Amino acid sequence: MIVARTVADVRAALADRRDGAVGLVPTMGALHAGHLALLASARDRCDTVVMSLFVNPAQFGEPADLNGYPRDEGRDLEVAREAGVDVVFAPSAVEMYPPGYQTWVDVTALGALLEGEHRPGHFRGVATICLKLFTIVRPDLAFFGQKDAQQVEVLRRMIGDLHLELELVVVPTVRDADGLALSSRNVRLSPEERERALALPRALATRDAATARSILEAAGLHVDYVELAPFKPPTLAAAVRVGSTRLIDNVPLEEES
Ligand code: PAF
Repeated sequence: MIVARTVADVRAALADRRDGAVGLVPTMGALHAGHLALLASARDRCDTVVMSLFVNPAQFGEPADLNGYPRDEGRDLEVAREAGVDVVFAPSAVEMYPPGYQTWVDVTALGALLEGEHRPGHFRGVATICLKLFTIVRPDLAFFGQKDAQQVEVLRRMIGDLHLELELVVVPTVRDADGLALSSRNVRLSPEERERALALPRALATRDAATARSILEAAGLHVDYVELAPFKPPTLAAAVRVGSTRLIDNVPLEEES
């Protein structure tokens, strides 16, 4: 497995691998079984699997959230190797945003809803880093989790609007046995908070925004939103705060016929 730290190095590593399909799995590290599902899907469908490992400062609002984001590069590289990744692209922040950097991608309406309302600038950061990764790696397929449903929707729109030539592959959410969707943020939950957080999948399973809100509030969770999102398909999406940890989850609903 090649570990590339610069744009030039990752391009060089991929130069003679363009005959077959190149798949990209963008990550911020702290890899868990949800990422393994993305990597397995990429391994299945692509000749070359590239994983990016970059905690993107541009998509964080609060400095405390960025600084507290779990990081363990040694472990992540081991997990990636085991999962059959061919190339890891793990650049520094200055490699991706050198001094003077000033170009941003804004998916205006979709990026302003729900998460966008509560985390202004988040999707501008996500769309920008993903476009940069797409331009650098030039993947044929890129893999994202259904858990970040709005991220998928924003990126699908960006790919369409900018006529990018790649297929976006959406991989179903991976859950623990108790129903909690896997997230790098789950490690921050105390046992008591984790117990209360289980109200989130339970509430979404009702597939009704009003019922879901009552369940979340009864469990003592702070609800940022629980709404039917205008995605394809329509999706019941929620964000809650359990203590100082913010969790998101969603359930796609069938299209009305
Ligand atoms: O979903 C994530 O982990 C991030 O938003 C992504 C897609 C890697 C961009 O930084």
